[in-house]
Amino acid sequence: MTGLPTPLALDAIRPHLATRVIGTTLLLHDEVDSTNRVLADLAHQGAPDGTVVVAESQTAGRGRLGRTWLSPRGLNLYVSILLARTLPPETVTWTPMLAALAVFRAIRTLTILDVRLKWPNDVLAIRGGVGRKLAGILVDAVGTGPTSGRAVVVGIGINVNMPLDAFPKELRATATSLLIETGSPVDRGRLLATLLGELDRLYDHAGTHGPDDIEAAYRVACDTIGKPVRIELIGSEKIEGTAEGLASDGALRLLTKNGKVLEIRAGDVVHLR
Ligand code: BTN
Repeated sequence: MTGLPTPLALDAIRPHLATRVIGTTLLLHDEVDSTNRVLADLAHQGAPDGTVVVAESQTAGRGRLGRTWLSPRGLNLYVSILLARTLPPETVTWTPMLAALAVFRAIRTLTILDVRLKWPNDVLAIRGGVGRKLAGILVDAVGTGPTSGRAVVVGIGINVNMPLDAFPKELRATATSLLIETGSPVDRGRLLATLLGELDRLYDHAGTHGPDDIEAAYRVACDTIGKPVRIELIGSEKIEGTAEGLASDGALRLLTKNGKVLEIRAGDVVHLR
């Protein structure tokens, strides 16, 4: 990429935002600790359903399982979305997969990359048979407003225009960006508007019809199902087996070598081939 990256600008995003709920309140910050933290605070103060917080950089970007999320200024997307509609429990547990599907569809709309999902919500670019992580999602449950309803903050990080040398050496084999994969910079404002549009449609659909269609679309996009995998559980326990499918709440059903089926709700999946 030549020159300085184009900053995100609300005036350039709003006209492309064909959404009903998501982004009706859209806040852009130059720097925050974590967009998920900022949005959780706003949720406590009664922020409306669909509120979106975007930042150009994060000083304490959070990843899944207590990790940090690399958040340099101006290169990527760091966005959090408040989903405050009261969804039935059987739909709420699909929120991480719904968000992954929205990212998957947005990237497929703007690029011709071979994108796949790794359970529960990593977005991978497949090149030479190898999947590298393009985007990650962190879903936090939060209380809302004085009446303490429950809602979720969906935090999405997409590596957009990050060159390979901006990744720490230890991530270069496993992480990637749209710039690295496509060879050209991607307009972050357009990607954000497309992502919020996909999320709006999926959220509306799940709220009205339940999770069945989300589940069906997720299964098609997900590379994990049917694969031999290693699950790295919280702590350091590892289990190998075959990811034989999904439970009704979205948990991964793992058929272990001794024939037992375990339902995994948190952990890191490694595809073994
Ligand atoms: C993962 O570990 O795969 C999840 C990464 C989630 C990162 C995003 S960036 C925007 C939002 N704010 C955060 O602090 N984390 C999420």
